[in-house]
Amino acid sequence: MPNPSPHSAPLLEWFAQARRDLPWRATLDPYHVWLSEVLLQQTQMERGVAYFQRFVARFPDLASLAEADEQDVLKLWEGLGYYGRARNLLKAARIMAAEHGGRVPDDHAALRALPGVGGYTAGAVLSIAYNRDVPAVDANAERVLARLHDVEQSPRDAKGKRLFARLAQELIPPGRAREINQAVMELGALVCLP
Ligand code: ADE
Repeated sequence: MPNPSPHSAPLLEWFAQARRDLPWRATLDPYHVWLSEVLLQQTQMERGVAYFQRFVARFPDLASLAEADEQDVLKLWEGLGYYGRARNLLKAARIMAAEHGGRVPDDHAALRALPGVGGYTAGAVLSIAYNRDVPAVDANAERVLARLHDVEQSPRDAKGKRLFARLAQELIPPGRAREINQAVMELGALVCLP
């Protein structure tokens, strides 16, 4: 497929007018982007936004989160479930404070090594916060890509993951991963429904 793919421009155009006004989209602060992605794992967008607001009100930056007591983080997390995610959030913040100069790393391997950061989250942080030309394929993006390309292959196994990563990569016009990745996820969330 040519790069840019013929689907890229219409997706970008649609996203420019349909995008939701999400708080981390306004700042693109890597801490905000990482926090939002961790909160949104297995969480509906509306709840994710509400908890994001609570977290940044209490812990406005990575340094303040890294210094937090675990009990305070768990308390703030209350209601979201999967408390391992909250513990991992704090562990990851401490690692970033200690080993990455207090910054969310702009590096795939370093991100993947953080507790609670899988392939999708690493790709989302790299593309959304740092605009790196890497794919970020969540369940919504998988559905969009599967329908766009008539794919029946399951995205669950290694072969399927490689296929979806390649299809997502082919959609990225150089320098536009931040928008195109969010456009694909947004289309899956708002229009191209299960
Ligand atoms: N789900 C998780 N992260 C998202 C994002 N940045 N845009 C749309 N949906 C998302």
